[in-house]
Amino acid sequence: MLKIGHRGAKGNEPENTLVSFQKALDLQVDGIELDVHLSADGDIIVIHDETIDRTTNGKGFVNTLSLRELKTFLIDENYEIPTLTEVFELVNQKCFINIELKSYDSTDKVVSLIEKYVSKKGWKYDRFLVSSFDWNALQQVAFLNDKIPIGVLTETDLDLALAFTKFIQAKSIHPYFHLLTKENTVQIQEKGLQVFPWTINELEDIQKIKTYNVNGIITDFPDRI
Ligand code: G3P
Ligand code: CA
Repeated sequence: MLKIGHRGAKGNEPENTLVSFQKALDLQVDGIELDVHLSADGDIIVIHDETIDRTTNGKGFVNTLSLRELKTFLIDENYEIPTLTEVFELVNQKCFINIELKSYDSTDKVVSLIEKYVSKKGWKYDRFLVSSFDWNALQQVAFLNDKIPIGVLTETDLDLALAFTKFIQAKSIHPYFHLLTKENTVQIQEKGLQVFPWTINELEDIQKIKTYNVNGIITDFPDRI
């Protein structure tokens, strides 16, 4: 059962920062999950929200600020907002990276960056997993490069997500964990899909989900798995 650190190790360090991803690596995760948006000048920025208001000391929409401007704002008074390239360099194949596309416009750039790390640096495609609630973005990933592993995110409709997973030949389904039962987990796995529920933090929930034999658990607290 894979241990996947949500936004790094969000329970221990500020989410989606290099220190959070390093903490997840220290906790020996199999994978990290992170969120991406595009800056105004087209860099891939690792941040959950479409604005920087909640997590930094600045204000504004990520896609209206340049990378240089974004780098002037701090998370928890200490940490810069990272780019996806900075995270790739930090992780350096020590675990896989689950990139959640938060905006359709980042799709082509994320695919290109993955292709660069595969062709120029010899990374394997299994070091990446691209997921999104925006299924159009996932369809675009599959169209651009069918070797990139895809995970279909769903918060509400497991059956629809399953049908779409088959349609784009995704590798995994990422359901809100309350959608899962032991029975439907087995049924999904019998279709050859991996099941990566999110975001499971309470020990009681972790214990329960473990009995379903899911393929991996996405959690803010990798040390609780
Ligand atoms: O990838 C699973 C989970 O991260 C989806 O929800 O809001 O935390 O990005 P959210
Ligand atoms: Ca996410």
